[in-house]
Amino acid sequence: MAWPGLCFCIITRHIEPLRNRETLSAHSPHPTPHLQLAEAKAPKTNCRARRYNGRLSHSPLINLESPPKKGLLMMKLTVIPGDGIGPEIMAQVIRVLKHVNAPFEYEEHVAGEIALQNLGDLLPHSTIESINKNKLAIKGPTTTPVGGGHKSINVTMRQKFDLYANVRPVRSLPGVKCIWPDINLTIVRENTEDLYAGIERMVDEGTAESIKRISRKGSERIARYAYDLAQKTGRSQVAIVHKANIMKMTDGLFLKTAQEIGWQYPNITTKDVIVDNACMQLVMKPQQFDVIVTENLYGDILSDLCAGLIGGLGVVPGANIGDKAAIFEAVHGSAPDIAGQNKANPTALLQSAVMMLQHVSETAKADAIMKALIEALADVNARTGDLGGKGTTVSFTDAIIQKLG
Ligand code: NAI
Repeated sequence: MAWPGLCFCIITRHIEPLRNRETLSAHSPHPTPHLQLAEAKAPKTNCRARRYNGRLSHSPLINLESPPKKGLLMMKLTVIPGDGIGPEIMAQVIRVLKHVNAPFEYEEHVAGEIALQNLGDLLPHSTIESINKNKLAIKGPTTTPVGGGHKSINVTMRQKFDLYANVRPVRSLPGVKCIWPDINLTIVRENTEDLYAGIERMVDEGTAESIKRISRKGSERIARYAYDLAQKTGRSQVAIVHKANIMKMTDGLFLKTAQEIGWQYPNITTKDVIVDNACMQLVMKPQQFDVIVTENLYGDILSDLCAGLIGGLGVVPGANIGDKAAIFEAVHGSAPDIAGQNKANPTALLQSAVMMLQHVSETAKADAIMKALIEALADVNARTGDLGGKGTTVSFTDAIIQKLG
Protein backbone atom coordinates (compact mmCIF):
# COMPACT_ATOMS: atom_id res chain seq x y z
CA MET A 1 0.00 0.00 0.00
CA ALA A 2 1.30 3.42 -0.93
CA TRP A 3 -0.03 5.06 2.20
CA PRO A 4 2.76 5.73 4.64
CA GLY A 5 0.76 7.81 7.10
CA LEU A 6 -0.45 11.28 6.49
CA CYS A 7 2.50 12.67 4.63
CA PHE A 8 1.81 16.26 4.53
CA CYS A 9 1.35 18.48 1.74
CA ILE A 10 0.46 21.62 3.55
CA ILE A 11 2.83 24.30 2.48
CA THR A 12 3.50 27.18 4.79
CA ARG A 13 4.77 29.30 1.94
CA HIS A 14 2.68 32.38 2.44
CA ILE A 15 1.76 31.92 6.03
CA GLU A 16 3.29 33.20 9.20
CA PRO A 17 2.24 30.44 11.54
CA LEU A 18 4.83 31.19 14.12
CA ARG A 19 4.12 34.85 14.35
CA ASN A 20 1.81 34.42 17.26
CA ARG A 21 4.24 32.27 19.16
CA GLU A 22 5.34 33.62 22.43
CA THR A 23 7.13 32.28 25.39
CA LEU A 24 4.85 31.62 28.26
CA SER A 25 5.61 32.67 31.71
CA ALA A 26 3.76 31.05 34.57
CA HIS A 27 0.41 32.29 33.28
CA SER A 28 -0.98 32.91 29.88
CA PRO A 29 -0.88 36.59 29.00
CA HIS A 30 -4.45 36.20 27.79
CA PRO A 31 -6.22 34.16 30.43
CA THR A 32 -9.52 32.72 29.31
CA PRO A 33 -11.25 31.85 32.56
CA HIS A 34 -14.55 31.14 30.80
CA LEU A 35 -12.87 28.16 29.18
CA GLN A 36 -12.83 26.30 32.44
CA LEU A 37 -16.55 25.81 32.59
CA ALA A 38 -17.05 22.63 30.62
CA GLU A 39 -15.74 19.10 30.57
CA ALA A 40 -13.95 17.59 27.65
CA LYS A 41 -14.59 13.93 27.97
CA ALA A 42 -18.36 13.80 27.84
CA PRO A 43 -19.72 14.81 24.47
CA LYS A 44 -21.56 18.08 24.57
CA THR A 45 -24.03 18.93 21.91
CA ASN A 46 -26.29 21.53 23.36
CA CYS A 47 -25.10 25.04 23.40
CA ARG A 48 -25.50 26.33 26.89
CA ALA A 49 -26.66 29.80 26.12
CA ARG A 50 -27.07 32.15 29.01
CA ARG A 51 -28.72 35.47 29.26
CA TYR A 52 -26.96 38.07 31.36
CA ASN A 53 -28.69 41.42 31.85
CA GLY A 54 -30.72 40.92 28.72
CA ARG A 55 -27.69 40.09 26.60
CA LEU A 56 -27.11 36.69 25.14
CA SER A 57 -23.83 35.05 25.83
CA HIS A 58 -22.39 31.68 25.04
CA SER A 59 -20.82 29.28 27.47
CA PRO A 60 -18.02 27.23 26.00
CA LEU A 61 -18.78 23.71 24.91
CA ILE A 62 -15.37 22.29 25.40
CA ASN A 63 -12.85 22.16 28.19
CA LEU A 64 -10.00 24.10 26.69
CA GLU A 65 -8.23 24.79 29.92
CA SER A 66 -4.63 24.00 29.27
CA PRO A 67 -2.04 24.72 31.89
CA PRO A 68 0.99 26.36 30.32
CA LYS A 69 3.92 24.03 29.88
CA LYS A 70 7.19 25.49 31.06
CA GLY A 71 9.66 26.01 28.26
CA LEU A 72 7.14 25.42 25.45
CA LEU A 73 6.62 28.05 22.81
CA MET A 74 2.87 28.46 22.79
CA MET A 75 0.67 29.51 19.92
CA LYS A 76 -2.83 30.84 20.24
CA LEU A 77 -5.34 28.68 18.46
CA THR A 78 -8.92 29.69 17.69
CA VAL A 79 -11.25 26.76 18.34
CA ILE A 80 -14.68 26.81 16.68
CA PRO A 81 -16.72 23.76 17.75
CA GLY A 82 -19.45 24.33 15.12
CA ASP A 83 -22.90 22.78 14.92
CA GLY A 84 -24.37 19.26 15.10
CA ILE A 85 -21.62 16.75 15.81
CA GLY A 86 -19.01 19.55 15.80
CA PRO A 87 -18.77 20.10 19.57
CA GLU A 88 -18.61 16.33 20.24
CA ILE A 89 -15.74 15.65 17.89
CA MET A 90 -13.94 18.89 18.68
CA ALA A 91 -13.91 18.05 22.39
CA GLN A 92 -12.21 14.75 21.59
CA VAL A 93 -9.68 16.31 19.25
CA ILE A 94 -8.73 18.84 21.91
CA ARG A 95 -8.31 15.97 24.39
CA VAL A 96 -5.79 14.38 22.04
CA LEU A 97 -3.96 17.65 21.38
CA LYS A 98 -3.70 18.28 25.09
CA HIS A 99 -2.53 14.74 25.69
CA VAL A 100 0.46 15.25 23.37
CA ASN A 101 1.15 18.68 24.88
CA ALA A 102 0.50 20.44 21.62
CA PRO A 103 1.80 23.98 22.11
CA PHE A 104 -1.50 25.75 21.88
CA GLU A 105 -3.39 28.21 24.00
CA TYR A 106 -6.96 27.50 23.09
CA GLU A 107 -9.50 30.25 22.51
CA GLU A 108 -13.03 29.03 21.95
CA HIS A 109 -15.26 31.04 19.64
CA VAL A 110 -18.53 30.28 17.95
CA ALA A 111 -19.70 30.40 14.35
CA GLY A 112 -22.67 29.02 12.46
CA GLU A 113 -26.17 28.31 13.65
CA ILE A 114 -25.10 28.00 17.25
CA ALA A 115 -23.71 31.53 17.07
CA LEU A 116 -26.79 32.83 15.32
CA GLN A 117 -29.10 31.32 17.93
CA ASN A 118 -27.11 32.42 20.93
CA LEU A 119 -25.32 35.58 19.91
CA GLY A 120 -27.52 36.72 17.05
CA ASP A 121 -24.69 36.60 14.54
CA LEU A 122 -23.51 33.75 12.29
CA LEU A 123 -19.93 34.91 12.44
CA PRO A 124 -19.50 37.11 15.50
CA HIS A 125 -16.93 39.87 15.47
CA SER A 126 -15.04 38.24 18.34
CA THR A 127 -14.55 35.11 16.22
CA ILE A 128 -13.28 37.13 13.28
CA GLU A 129 -10.93 39.07 15.53
CA SER A 130 -9.59 35.91 17.10
CA ILE A 131 -8.77 34.36 13.71
CA ASN A 132 -7.25 37.60 12.46
CA LYS A 133 -5.07 37.73 15.55
CA ASN A 134 -4.11 34.07 15.87
CA LYS A 135 -3.96 33.25 12.15
CA LEU A 136 -4.61 29.67 13.07
CA ALA A 137 -7.97 28.02 13.70
CA ILE A 138 -9.56 24.60 13.92
CA LYS A 139 -13.23 24.45 13.07
CA GLY A 140 -16.00 21.93 13.45
CA PRO A 141 -18.68 21.65 10.78
CA THR A 142 -21.42 24.25 10.65
CA THR A 143 -24.96 23.76 9.45
CA THR A 144 -26.28 25.57 6.40
CA PRO A 145 -29.98 25.47 5.60
CA VAL A 146 -30.74 23.99 2.16
CA GLY A 147 -32.59 26.06 -0.45
CA GLY A 148 -32.94 29.19 1.66
CA GLY A 149 -31.93 30.75 4.94
CA HIS A 150 -28.51 32.10 5.70
CA LYS A 151 -25.42 31.88 3.52
CA SER A 152 -22.92 29.12 4.30
CA ILE A 153 -20.66 30.19 7.12
CA ASN A 154 -17.83 28.21 5.53
CA VAL A 155 -18.10 30.12 2.30
CA THR A 156 -18.25 33.38 4.25
CA MET A 157 -15.14 32.54 6.27
CA ARG A 158 -13.19 31.40 3.24
CA GLN A 159 -14.01 34.64 1.46
CA LYS A 160 -13.47 36.86 4.50
CA PHE A 161 -10.01 35.46 5.28
CA ASP A 162 -9.23 34.84 1.61
CA LEU A 163 -8.49 31.18 2.32
CA TYR A 164 -8.03 30.41 -1.33
CA ALA A 165 -6.60 26.90 -1.13
CA ASN A 166 -8.67 24.04 0.18
CA VAL A 167 -6.36 21.07 0.57
CA ARG A 168 -7.86 17.63 1.05
CA PRO A 169 -5.55 14.64 1.23
CA VAL A 170 -7.42 11.48 0.32
CA ARG A 171 -5.57 8.38 1.46
CA SER A 172 -6.71 4.89 2.27
CA LEU A 173 -6.19 4.13 5.93
CA PRO A 174 -5.12 0.69 7.06
CA GLY A 175 -7.93 -1.03 8.91
CA VAL A 176 -10.63 1.08 7.30
CA LYS A 177 -12.77 -0.99 4.97
CA CYS A 178 -12.93 0.78 1.66
CA ILE A 179 -13.37 0.32 -2.06
CA TRP A 180 -9.74 1.07 -2.85
CA PRO A 181 -7.03 0.33 -0.27
CA ASP A 182 -4.26 2.12 -2.16
CA ILE A 183 -5.45 5.64 -2.85
CA ASN A 184 -3.05 8.45 -2.15
CA LEU A 185 -4.04 11.67 -3.83
CA THR A 186 -4.58 15.25 -2.83
CA ILE A 187 -7.37 17.50 -4.00
CA VAL A 188 -6.51 21.18 -4.19
CA ARG A 189 -9.76 23.05 -4.55
CA GLU A 190 -10.07 26.75 -5.34
CA ASN A 191 -11.95 28.08 -2.37
CA THR A 192 -13.17 31.61 -3.06
CA GLU A 193 -14.65 31.84 -6.55
CA ASP A 194 -16.91 29.91 -8.90
CA LEU A 195 -20.59 29.39 -8.17
CA TYR A 196 -19.78 29.52 -4.45
CA ALA A 197 -19.31 33.28 -4.57
CA GLY A 198 -23.04 33.38 -3.81
CA ILE A 199 -23.99 35.74 -6.64
CA GLU A 200 -27.54 34.57 -7.22
CA ARG A 201 -30.77 36.30 -8.12
CA MET A 202 -34.33 35.61 -9.10
CA VAL A 203 -34.76 36.73 -12.70
CA ASP A 204 -38.52 36.38 -12.40
CA GLU A 205 -40.79 34.26 -10.24
CA GLY A 206 -40.00 31.09 -12.12
CA THR A 207 -36.35 31.64 -12.98
CA ALA A 208 -33.25 31.89 -10.85
CA GLU A 209 -29.68 32.41 -11.93
CA SER A 210 -26.28 32.08 -10.34
CA ILE A 211 -23.14 33.74 -11.61
CA LYS A 212 -20.04 31.62 -12.02
CA ARG A 213 -17.08 33.91 -11.54
CA ILE A 214 -13.58 32.73 -12.36
CA SER A 215 -10.62 35.09 -12.42
CA ARG A 216 -7.12 34.76 -13.81
CA LYS A 217 -5.70 35.83 -10.45
CA GLY A 218 -7.73 33.20 -8.56
CA SER A 219 -6.86 30.50 -11.07
CA GLU A 220 -3.19 31.42 -11.06
CA ARG A 221 -2.72 31.30 -7.33
CA ILE A 222 -4.55 28.00 -6.83
CA ALA A 223 -2.66 26.42 -9.72
CA ARG A 224 0.64 27.68 -8.32
CA TYR A 225 -0.29 26.34 -4.91
CA ALA A 226 -1.06 22.92 -6.40
CA TYR A 227 2.14 22.73 -8.42
CA ASP A 228 4.24 23.95 -5.49
CA LEU A 229 2.60 21.35 -3.30
CA ALA A 230 3.24 18.64 -5.89
CA GLN A 231 6.87 19.66 -6.13
CA LYS A 232 7.50 19.93 -2.40
CA THR A 233 5.85 16.63 -1.62
CA GLY A 234 7.53 14.66 -4.41
CA ARG A 235 4.45 14.23 -6.53
CA SER A 236 4.89 13.75 -10.25
CA GLN A 237 1.57 14.74 -11.77
CA VAL A 238 -1.08 17.44 -11.54
CA ALA A 239 -4.50 16.84 -13.09
CA ILE A 240 -6.47 19.97 -13.92
CA VAL A 241 -10.16 19.09 -13.63
CA HIS A 242 -12.57 21.34 -15.54
CA LYS A 243 -15.55 21.51 -17.89
CA ALA A 244 -14.01 23.83 -20.46
CA ASN A 245 -15.64 21.99 -23.34
CA ILE A 246 -18.96 23.49 -22.26
CA MET A 247 -18.08 26.55 -20.17
CA LYS A 248 -15.55 27.87 -22.60
CA MET A 249 -15.00 31.24 -20.97
CA THR A 250 -15.00 30.46 -17.25
CA ASP A 251 -13.55 26.96 -17.23
CA GLY A 252 -11.58 27.84 -20.35
CA LEU A 253 -9.84 30.62 -18.40
CA PHE A 254 -9.20 28.30 -15.44
CA LEU A 255 -7.76 25.56 -17.65
CA LYS A 256 -5.58 27.85 -19.75
CA THR A 257 -4.23 29.68 -16.68
CA ALA A 258 -3.48 26.46 -14.81
CA GLN A 259 -1.75 25.00 -17.87
CA GLU A 260 0.42 28.11 -18.16
CA ILE A 261 1.46 27.73 -14.54
CA GLY A 262 2.15 24.06 -15.20
CA TRP A 263 4.66 24.94 -17.93
CA GLN A 264 6.81 26.49 -15.21
CA TYR A 265 7.16 23.07 -13.54
CA PRO A 266 8.86 20.91 -16.17
CA ASN A 267 9.37 18.00 -13.77
CA ILE A 268 5.67 17.64 -13.15
CA THR A 269 3.37 16.09 -15.73
CA THR A 270 0.18 18.02 -16.38
CA LYS A 271 -2.98 16.42 -17.63
CA ASP A 272 -6.41 17.90 -17.98
CA VAL A 273 -9.53 15.90 -17.32
CA ILE A 274 -13.15 16.89 -17.91
CA VAL A 275 -14.98 16.70 -14.61
CA ASP A 276 -17.51 14.02 -15.56
CA ASN A 277 -14.74 11.80 -16.88
CA ALA A 278 -12.72 12.58 -13.74
CA CYS A 279 -15.58 11.21 -11.62
CA MET A 280 -15.63 7.96 -13.54
CA GLN A 281 -11.84 7.64 -13.58
CA LEU A 282 -11.70 8.25 -9.83
CA VAL A 283 -14.17 5.46 -9.19
CA MET A 284 -12.59 3.03 -11.67
CA LYS A 285 -8.88 3.78 -11.30
CA PRO A 286 -8.09 6.40 -8.67
CA GLN A 287 -4.44 5.35 -8.51
CA GLN A 288 -3.79 7.28 -11.72
CA PHE A 289 -4.26 10.57 -9.83
CA ASP A 290 -1.63 12.33 -7.78
CA VAL A 291 -2.59 15.97 -7.21
CA ILE A 292 -5.89 17.28 -8.55
CA VAL A 293 -6.39 21.02 -8.94
CA THR A 294 -9.89 22.18 -9.66
CA GLU A 295 -12.54 24.82 -9.22
CA ASN A 296 -14.64 25.29 -6.13
CA LEU A 297 -17.78 23.29 -6.98
CA TYR A 298 -15.98 20.41 -8.71
CA GLY A 299 -13.54 20.21 -5.80
CA ASP A 300 -16.37 19.97 -3.31
CA ILE A 301 -18.06 17.16 -5.21
CA LEU A 302 -14.85 15.26 -5.98
CA SER A 303 -13.86 15.41 -2.31
CA ASP A 304 -17.00 13.61 -1.21
CA LEU A 305 -16.71 11.15 -4.08
CA CYS A 306 -13.15 10.36 -3.02
CA ALA A 307 -14.23 10.14 0.62
CA GLY A 308 -16.61 7.40 -0.44
CA LEU A 309 -13.72 5.49 -1.97
CA ILE A 310 -11.68 5.38 1.21
CA GLY A 311 -14.29 4.67 3.85
CA GLY A 312 -16.59 7.67 4.02
CA LEU A 313 -16.79 11.24 5.11
CA GLY A 314 -15.62 10.42 8.60
CA VAL A 315 -12.02 9.98 7.46
CA VAL A 316 -11.11 12.87 5.16
CA PRO A 317 -9.37 15.91 6.64
CA GLY A 318 -9.01 19.36 5.17
CA ALA A 319 -7.23 22.67 5.41
CA ASN A 320 -8.21 26.10 4.20
CA ILE A 321 -5.07 28.05 3.54
CA GLY A 322 -4.61 31.71 2.73
CA ASP A 323 -1.77 34.18 2.90
CA LYS A 324 -2.83 35.49 6.28
CA ALA A 325 -4.61 32.66 8.05
CA ALA A 326 -5.23 28.93 7.99
CA ILE A 327 -8.35 27.13 9.17
CA PHE A 328 -8.36 23.37 9.56
CA GLU A 329 -11.60 21.40 9.31
CA ALA A 330 -12.94 18.02 8.29
CA VAL A 331 -14.58 17.56 4.91
CA HIS A 332 -17.82 16.26 6.37
CA GLY A 333 -20.76 18.34 7.56
CA SER A 334 -22.55 18.69 10.87
CA ALA A 335 -24.31 15.31 10.49
CA PRO A 336 -27.54 16.29 12.26
CA ASP A 337 -28.80 12.71 11.93
CA ILE A 338 -26.26 11.48 14.49
CA ALA A 339 -25.63 14.63 16.53
CA GLY A 340 -25.66 14.18 20.28
CA GLN A 341 -25.51 10.38 20.09
CA ASN A 342 -21.80 9.84 20.74
CA LYS A 343 -21.61 8.10 17.35
CA ALA A 344 -19.63 10.60 15.30
CA ASN A 345 -16.24 9.59 14.05
CA PRO A 346 -13.60 12.14 15.11
CA THR A 347 -11.00 10.77 12.64
CA ALA A 348 -11.38 13.45 9.98
CA LEU A 349 -11.17 16.34 12.42
CA LEU A 350 -8.28 14.67 14.22
CA GLN A 351 -6.43 14.29 10.93
CA SER A 352 -7.17 17.95 10.24
CA ALA A 353 -5.51 18.68 13.59
CA VAL A 354 -2.57 16.55 12.46
CA MET A 355 -2.36 18.70 9.31
CA MET A 356 -2.40 21.75 11.55
CA LEU A 357 0.47 20.39 13.64
CA GLN A 358 2.41 19.80 10.43
CA HIS A 359 1.57 23.31 9.33
CA VAL A 360 3.18 24.74 12.46
CA SER A 361 6.15 22.37 12.16
CA GLU A 362 5.15 20.12 15.06
CA THR A 363 5.96 17.05 13.00
CA ALA A 364 6.80 14.66 15.82
CA LYS A 365 3.49 15.24 17.56
CA ALA A 366 1.64 14.96 14.26
CA ASP A 367 3.34 11.66 13.47
CA ALA A 368 2.63 10.29 16.94
CA ILE A 369 -1.08 11.07 16.66
CA MET A 370 -1.27 9.57 13.18
CA LYS A 371 0.41 6.37 14.36
CA ALA A 372 -1.96 6.04 17.32
CA LEU A 373 -4.95 6.81 15.12
CA ILE A 374 -4.01 4.14 12.59
CA GLU A 375 -3.52 1.59 15.36
CA ALA A 376 -6.88 2.44 16.89
CA LEU A 377 -8.61 2.28 13.51
CA ALA A 378 -7.34 -1.25 13.03
CA ASP A 379 -9.27 -2.37 16.12
CA VAL A 380 -12.91 -3.16 15.38
CA ASN A 381 -13.80 -2.70 19.04
CA ALA A 382 -12.32 0.78 19.01
CA ARG A 383 -13.35 2.35 15.74
CA THR A 384 -16.75 3.99 15.31
CA GLY A 385 -19.90 2.55 13.77
CA ASP A 386 -19.59 4.38 10.43
CA LEU A 387 -16.45 2.28 9.87
CA GLY A 388 -18.12 -0.94 10.97
CA GLY A 389 -16.71 -0.74 14.47
CA LYS A 390 -18.22 -0.95 17.91
CA GLY A 391 -16.72 2.20 19.38
CA THR A 392 -18.25 5.55 20.19
CA THR A 393 -16.84 9.03 19.70
CA VAL A 394 -15.46 9.03 23.22
CA SER A 395 -14.33 5.40 23.48
CA PHE A 396 -12.53 5.64 20.13
CA THR A 397 -10.66 8.69 21.40
CA ASP A 398 -9.87 6.81 24.60
CA ALA A 399 -8.28 4.11 22.44
CA ILE A 400 -6.20 6.66 20.54
CA ILE A 401 -5.01 8.24 23.76
CA GLN A 402 -4.19 4.83 25.17
CA LYS A 403 -2.06 4.07 22.09
CA LEU A 404 -0.29 7.39 22.53
CA GLY A 405 0.78 6.21 25.95
P1 NAI B 1 -22.81 15.44 6.39
O1 NAI B 1 -21.38 15.32 6.04
O2 NAI B 1 -23.13 16.20 7.61
O3 NAI B 1 -23.46 13.98 6.54
C1 NAI B 1 -23.53 13.06 5.47
C2 NAI B 1 -23.61 11.65 6.05
O4 NAI B 1 -22.33 11.29 6.57
C3 NAI B 1 -24.60 11.54 7.20
O5 NAI B 1 -25.21 10.28 7.14
C4 NAI B 1 -23.73 11.62 8.43
O6 NAI B 1 -24.25 10.94 9.56
C5 NAI B 1 -22.43 10.99 7.95
N1 NAI B 1 -21.28 11.59 8.63
C6 NAI B 1 -20.75 12.80 8.41
N2 NAI B 1 -19.72 13.01 9.23
C7 NAI B 1 -19.61 11.93 9.99
C8 NAI B 1 -18.71 11.56 11.04
N3 NAI B 1 -17.73 12.36 11.47
N4 NAI B 1 -18.89 10.35 11.61
C9 NAI B 1 -19.85 9.51 11.19
N5 NAI B 1 -20.71 9.80 10.20
C10 NAI B 1 -20.59 11.00 9.61
O7 NAI B 1 -23.53 16.07 5.11
P2 NAI B 1 -24.99 16.66 4.96
O8 NAI B 1 -25.97 15.80 5.69
O9 NAI B 1 -25.14 16.87 3.51
O10 NAI B 1 -24.92 18.09 5.63
C11 NAI B 1 -25.37 18.38 6.94
C12 NAI B 1 -25.07 19.82 7.22
O11 NAI B 1 -23.66 20.04 7.24
C13 NAI B 1 -25.63 20.78 6.16
O12 NAI B 1 -26.19 21.88 6.82
C14 NAI B 1 -24.40 21.19 5.37
O13 NAI B 1 -24.54 22.45 4.80
C15 NAI B 1 -23.34 21.16 6.44
N6 NAI B 1 -21.98 21.00 5.93
C16 NAI B 1 -21.00 21.68 6.58
C17 NAI B 1 -19.69 21.54 6.20
C18 NAI B 1 -18.66 22.28 6.96
O14 NAI B 1 -18.98 22.99 7.90
N7 NAI B 1 -17.39 22.18 6.60
C19 NAI B 1 -19.30 20.64 5.10
C20 NAI B 1 -20.40 19.93 4.52
C21 NAI B 1 -21.70 20.11 4.93
